[in-house]
Amino acid sequence: PCTMNSLIEQLRNKFTHALTTAFGSAVEGIDPIVVPASNPQFGDYQSNIALSLSKPLRQQPRAIAEQIVQHLDVSGICQTPTIAGPGFINLRLEPAYLEAQLSAIQTDPRLGVESIKTPQRIIVDFSSPNIAKEMHVGHLRSTIIGDSLARILEFQGHDVLRLNHVGDWGTQFGMLIAYLRVTYPSALTTSNALDLGDLVTFYRKAKQRFDGDEEFQETARKEVVKLQSGAEDSRQAWQLLCEQSRREFEVIYDLLDIHLTERGESFYNPLLPDVVKDLEESGLLVEDTGAQCVFLEGFTNKEGQPLPLIVQKSDGGYNYATTDLAAIRYRIEQDRAVRIIYVTDAGQANHFAQVFQVARRAGWLTNEVQVVHVPFGLVQGEDGKKLKTRSGETIRLRDLLDEAIARARADLEARLKDEGREETEEFKTHVAQIIGLSAVKYADLSQNRNSNYIFSFNKMLSLQGNTAPYLLYAYARIQSISRKGNINFDEMGNNIKVLLQEEAELVLGKHLLQLSEVLRELERDLLPNRLCQYLYELSQKFNQFFEQCPVLWSEEPVRTSRLVLCNLTAKTLKLGLSLLGIGVLERM
Ligand code: ARG
Repeated sequence: PCTMNSLIEQLRNKFTHALTTAFGSAVEGIDPIVVPASNPQFGDYQSNIALSLSKPLRQQPRAIAEQIVQHLDVSGICQTPTIAGPGFINLRLEPAYLEAQLSAIQTDPRLGVESIKTPQRIIVDFSSPNIAKEMHVGHLRSTIIGDSLARILEFQGHDVLRLNHVGDWGTQFGMLIAYLRVTYPSALTTSNALDLGDLVTFYRKAKQRFDGDEEFQETARKEVVKLQSGAEDSRQAWQLLCEQSRREFEVIYDLLDIHLTERGESFYNPLLPDVVKDLEESGLLVEDTGAQCVFLEGFTNKEGQPLPLIVQKSDGGYNYATTDLAAIRYRIEQDRAVRIIYVTDAGQANHFAQVFQVARRAGWLTNEVQVVHVPFGLVQGEDGKKLKTRSGETIRLRDLLDEAIARARADLEARLKDEGREETEEFKTHVAQIIGLSAVKYADLSQNRNSNYIFSFNKMLSLQGNTAPYLLYAYARIQSISRKGNINFDEMGNNIKVLLQEEAELVLGKHLLQLSEVLRELERDLLPNRLCQYLYELSQKFNQFFEQCPVLWSEEPVRTSRLVLCNLTAKTLKLGLSLLGIGVLERM
């Protein structure tokens, strides 16, 4: 397999070498900050390090740049470096180098992306809906973003544990079990699975009863205690409710091809008393009006007093935060995770900052472990308000996905009619499903996750712009070239000479070689929209190339070289999309 450092890393190393040769220990440990050039006119990469070294080295930036360049050996990769303005160092890649790289990765399934040298145990905590409550669009975002991050980290070679921190515990179960006893008394005596219908409706009815019936409230409270003390029939009722929810979640996960390990809040129940006990022993625990809490640093109320994080309520019950403290500890001590990623809406930023702080002060979370909250914004309707159905209700995820598929189907049928094409029912079903679901995923992933995102079927299903259908179309277009030319890409052989003679070929070739750079960046920043942008630009650059450079009709050796460029583009699209959880279509 091909193992090369991403280009930018190679250049960075060469810069570091030049820096130390020129200036010795004075520049030790300094990052040369090599970045893609802001304007292709200046080249492909640039470094402005000479400017920032001017002060510490007490020299003119231009003079520093000259000394760096003197020692900078990029021959074979770049043309002779140039210095612009006050001391910017510009690099332009050598076409021969690009050609050689492209021909070397042709048959590499990883397309030249090196796997990580020191794999880490990483946990991605994502999706995490709540039992008996609806899995809403926020959970959909978490599911889509979390899955993509997990895929990217897995591809890099990390050992990833995908955890579904399902909300399967809490006082709402008292109410639900009590209501179950009233409405389905038989449920608790038969071992048969029971279909409660829509659990969200069941929850709503139970809540109604709870709000309007004091006696029922008391029963519900007793149920909580019974459940917590481990009574067999309460346990069974709880199981039943969880099973039912799980079945509903599975439908969504299956549709979206999401795989994760369920380890719900209840898993950590037996560990909660120890969390409190150990906080007490480490001297962090304070009793405040009957509740056990830890006073937080840097979080204050309106009066400027430190805020408490309650870990045990005055009635003895535990909180969402207590469970997360137990979880973080378990994940570090038992799972041996060195990076833990939590994908939830931005509204939980404080919750995680507080949990991380307490875990750190308790000594459970050390500097060897990196914990990150990966927040995302709200999903809004086209009116900028909370996403709702026309009649004003919250949208069920299943309905939303079905609608995406149905609309994709309608678009497809209109297109087939326009083109006078006949296709089988099977084809139409398959294509509509892939396009519809990809569109939903891609629309979410292509936005910077930190901002709110406007959900628009029209936009996400459009064949124009930064959308899944646009990328899928580019891929299918390449497959049609191979069909037209009767060429089997897989049998073209390897190390075929690639020629980058036309500007459009050069631009495409350079872009193809940036994948590993983008993935490295993503591993750090956890922003899948960077990968989307990369793939979108790849499709655009491919389309430009295809308009300007005939493929099947050109003479050898150009013809084969262009076919290789086509194939590499298709493979890059396929790989990149797979990291977003999106499959491709050979025809559409
Ligand atoms: N169940 C929570 C919710 O729906 C999300 C859980 C996120 N993960 C965690 N470890 N707290 O908001």
